[in-house]
Amino acid sequence: MNDSARPIRFVVDGQPVLVHGVSPATTLLEWLRTDRRSTGTKEGCAEGDCGACTVMLARRLPDGRLRAEPCNACIRPLPTVDSCGVLTVEGLGGGHPAQHAMVACHGSQCGFCTPGFVMAMVARLALGPVRTDAQACEALAGNLCRCTGYRPIVAALHAASSVVHADPASGGGASGLPAWLAELDPPPTDSFRFEGGAARWDAPRTVEAVDRLLAERPDAWLLAGGTDIGLWVTKQLREPRRWVWLGAVDALQTLSTGADAFDIGAGVTLADAFAALDTDYPEFAGYWARFASPAIRACGTLVGNLANGSPIGDAAPVLIALGASVVLRRAGHGGTERREVSLADLYVDYRVQCRRPGEWIERLRLPRRRSGQRVLAFKLSKRLEQDISAVSMGLSLQVHEGRCVDPRIVFGGMAGIVKRAAAAEAVLEGQVPARRLFEAAGAALPVDFRPIDDARASGGYRLDGAAGLLIRAWHILFDSGAGPVTVDALRLDAAAPVGRDGALR
Ligand code: FAD
Ligand code: FES
Ligand code: FES
Repeated sequence: MNDSARPIRFVVDGQPVLVHGVSPATTLLEWLRTDRRSTGTKEGCAEGDCGACTVMLARRLPDGRLRAEPCNACIRPLPTVDSCGVLTVEGLGGGHPAQHAMVACHGSQCGFCTPGFVMAMVARLALGPVRTDAQACEALAGNLCRCTGYRPIVAALHAASSVVHADPASGGGASGLPAWLAELDPPPTDSFRFEGGAARWDAPRTVEAVDRLLAERPDAWLLAGGTDIGLWVTKQLREPRRWVWLGAVDALQTLSTGADAFDIGAGVTLADAFAALDTDYPEFAGYWARFASPAIRACGTLVGNLANGSPIGDAAPVLIALGASVVLRRAGHGGTERREVSLADLYVDYRVQCRRPGEWIERLRLPRRRSGQRVLAFKLSKRLEQDISAVSMGLSLQVHEGRCVDPRIVFGGMAGIVKRAAAAEAVLEGQVPARRLFEAAGAALPVDFRPIDDARASGGYRLDGAAGLLIRAWHILFDSGAGPVTVDALRLDAAAPVGRDGALR
């Protein structure tokens, strides 16, 4: 392991750069605009919510493939782009089909949001053609425009797709991406240490090195995708003296599907984890599509969401309902200490977990689908996309000889932690699944929950909404008249004041 500090090395718009001496908390956006004076990339919200700062981040994977993703530069700590290629709107040089299409389709008025939309389009088109409006809306869900209205912007993405992905036989086939991206070097194999200001950044390569660094400095900020931590820097103006980044530990980037369980490393992104879970649990696809935006899902990790432990985090209700567990580890006196705890037991009280000092989450284990298992998830929020839940619910149950068996009903937003609705589960256990039974389960919710009033919802709304979700669950699972719930259906169902999964508009 190489222990000496070095500058951050990366390539911006085809130009190699070395950065020395800045604080590791410096964001990519701050560096682009202030140090490099590349002001085409804009700052709107500085919290990953508006997309004005979108750039495309490319890196070479250990197996040699190139991975290109949209990135919210405003919450991306600069050392995380070491060894990456950063493509900004300036690097397109005005010649990308997305730029031409935005002009041709009248997709821009004041123009402030336009570089971000263009870069979200460039990153999406690098993945393949956009064929439907739902795919276009999904790709642009993290970008806000206050002037133009979205219809021309969606039209521009379709138009750009038809140029970038034109049939090569018909003379098209322009990739739209600059050639220098194909020449990116593979990431270094040694650990990376960076020092700037009074702070130190460590990007170890092994889990044992993570253990050692955390044992040495338990106060270090353990960073995965940084989509929560980024806001502590930009909104709370906090900066640690020590950072430990998990993104360079190859062993944590792995996801395997075994006979009994999914095994998901702490570095696996939300996007990759959701794609894997879709194979067994396609019912959750619409729920995951409402989890942040493509840029956040490409960067944030599933384990980071669980470790952050917010009572309104969207993954925990589903994963607790499915019976997930986490593998915890830390450096002990006689070597590494490792233990597996059920996700439900990880959360003890508001922002309190059963993790001991220096203990961190190495992996998530999630049971494969059992035969006859019925599952559902709902999110109640004020808008459909990119919003924080007021209430979320994960549900799993079996039906055996016409009766509900092993019901697991889990709510977020109803208490200081995400937790199971024990009294409601007891109502369902062993009973025939009639609508009146699910109403009775909803009526039992106040036994377990006394939700608070806050800016997102009153406690009364939360209780009523949660009870309503149980009735909705009955309709979807047991009432043969109810249709499937998909994000497309929600979007097309625009006339309804309440979406079919309960999303208020
Ligand atoms: P980080 O920010 O790197 O870390 C988060 C916390 O977990 C930190 O305390 C960190 O120290 C700790 N941590 C990370 N990994 C580990 C580990 N392996 N072991 C121990 N501790 C660890 N969340 C939702 O639930 N639903 C949403 O719809 C949603 N939308 C969002 C939209 C925006 C615009 C943004 C900015 C965030 C949103 N989030 C949402 C929150 C965030 O994206 C998720 O919580 C994400 O999964 C966090 O993962 P991360 O890898 O970025 O975590
Ligand atoms: Fe709004 Fe970055 S400035 S997402
Ligand atoms: Fe003005 Fe989009 S064109 S914000």
